[in-house]
Amino acid sequence: MKFVVTAGPTREYLDPVRFLSNPSTGKMGFAVARAAAMRGHEVALVAGPVTLKTPKGVRRIDVTSAREMLAAVERELSRQAPGAVFVSTAAVADWRPAKCAARKLKKGQMSDTLKLVRNPDILKTVARRAKHQAPARASTVFVGFAAETNDVIAEARRKCREKNLDMIVANDVTEKGSGFGVDTNRVTFVRKDGSVERLPLMTKLAVARRIVRECEDLRP
Ligand code: CTP
Repeated sequence: MKFVVTAGPTREYLDPVRFLSNPSTGKMGFAVARAAAMRGHEVALVAGPVTLKTPKGVRRIDVTSAREMLAAVERELSRQAPGAVFVSTAAVADWRPAKCAARKLKKGQMSDTLKLVRNPDILKTVARRAKHQAPARASTVFVGFAAETNDVIAEARRKCREKNLDMIVANDVTEKGSGFGVDTNRVTFVRKDGSVERLPLMTKLAVARRIVRECEDLRP
């Protein structure tokens, strides 16, 4: 199967030396890419700015901003044969500065408020588009992540429905051993059919293997 995976944060620059971002390190997405390659799948990994090594057998496309990430994902998905899998682990910045200055802004030039505009929702955009395509393309499997601090399952169900996904991998980032930068994760699979499967605390690679198996089963 063909896997397209996003990983890491995005950066939204307001001038050449300043940006908005988040603490994502890309570990979960790189683990998914590695696990898929280990199962013999063809993998394109669209990565935001991270310091991780590219897993063996994985084709990596580096991007910086959410808009670049969307363009790369669209390009990769359109290159895939029908029946691809898209796993969206990236911590995409939901807003970007309305303007990005070509030169460093001096303190005197900056105001106390920053005007922001919404970034595209990458997962929602590509999942919506696939639904309206020919049946073969519509068979793409879409898996999202939901990092939450409260109402984890309810939020995951809402995102699964609103983004038109096959599954959401939900985790409570306030729990010990879960979240940004660590090598473990405790996740819950929330499927389109409403079923919920809570997994124990595992390494991110073990979680990734379970996700890849699940995608294999989800393929129509
Ligand atoms: N996502 C995306 N593009 C965005 C925001 C999110 O592709 N601009 C994807 C993430 O990669 C993840 C899923 O959507 O797979 C859920 O992301 P999350 O940040 O948990 O949710 P949001 O849609 O941003 O919703 P909210 O702010 O209400 O929590």
